[in-house]
Amino acid sequence: MAFFIRWLKAASFLETKTLILDASSYIGGHLFARLGTERAVATYYRNPVGNVVYFDALSMSLSEVVKKTQDITHAVILIGDTKPDSCASDIRKSHALNVESIISIIKFLKERHIKPVFTSTESVFDGIKGSYVETDEVNPILLYGRQKLEIERYLQDYTVDFTILRLSKVYGVSPGDGTIFTSWLEQIQRNETILCSYDQVYSPIYVEDVVDGIIKAIDTGAGGIFHLSGNKPYKRIEMLEMLLSIASEFILQPVNVVRCSINDFGLLEKRPLNVSMVNDKIVKAMGLVPSDARELCSGMIKKFYTNGAMEYR
Ligand SMILES: NC(=O)c1ccc[n+]([C@@H]2O[C@H](COP(=O)([O-])OP(=O)(O)OC[C@H]3O[C@@H](n4cnc5c(N)ncnc54)[C@H](OP(=O)(O)O)[C@@H]3O)[C@@H](O)[C@H]2O)c1
Repeated sequence: MAFFIRWLKAASFLETKTLILDASSYIGGHLFARLGTERAVATYYRNPVGNVVYFDALSMSLSEVVKKTQDITHAVILIGDTKPDSCASDIRKSHALNVESIISIIKFLKERHIKPVFTSTESVFDGIKGSYVETDEVNPILLYGRQKLEIERYLQDYTVDFTILRLSKVYGVSPGDGTIFTSWLEQIQRNETILCSYDQVYSPIYVEDVVDGIIKAIDTGAGGIFHLSGNKPYKRIEMLEMLLSIASEFILQPVNVVRCSINDFGLLEKRPLNVSMVNDKIVKAMGLVPSDARELCSGMIKKFYTNGAMEYR
């Protein structure tokens, strides 16, 4: 039924749109930049970005934001407390945002026949096996992962038409984006010691590939669970060594790297060690072509050292 109504909307030559919840998230900003106001309507919470509507998931209903006449076919749910330690430090607060508010969003979307595209995480796994596929058993050891899993289960139990994208660690190549490569480059520039774990493994994915994956999930109508991850598993230290080897021709001073376990960082909860995921299902089903991390890193470093630290976009 929901699928039929969405098909009718899309086939009725009315302009159909995707709702981005919200566009001030790191991924949502990139998604909104790609879809534009032609194909998307978007919300923000604390940080307005142009052409977006205010929405506080904790105190508002989506009905205050989405008009009945708007032809929205999909909603990409990106809202959340996305930092494991922040979730663990205030369990009630993170549960209210990551679970309760997302459930009421999903209920509203179901009433309006809008398909949810929910962004979950590699943290639904315990990190013992690694190279996880979609059918592997989940067993989150982080509260953040348990909260995401609660939504995955809610979607599976109470809706028939949904897409769950389990994202691995996302990185970008823009100055100040706070992701893994850019943060290291900026630390090197400031001559800081870099603490880097040797025992955490994941399959990092470029933010524009995440956007591709989300758009393909919408355009192909693919439903179910997909692992939206890069092609290769990396230890964090291997990514740093890759960056240092590519940057070696430009770096004049020695870089002080201290290798440690991810669980030496004094984090509130023990981290799962190998949360690498296999992306074969999404690659086959949607034709996603994830970028090569080395190539992206190399392009970013060249721009960083030739155009100046602040202009390597
Ligand atoms: N980035 C990754 O590496 C990664 C990996 C795995 C999964 N994911 C998942 O992908 C999604 C997007 O990730 P991201 O890194 O782009 O997230 P993010 O930058 O941390 O953004 C989280 C968003 O939640 C919004 N928010 C917080 N409280 C809110 C409230 N009360 N009402 C409405 N919005 C509220 C924030 O709004 P303000 O900015 O306005 O405060 C922010 O835009 C998340 O669900 C995350 O769990 C991300």
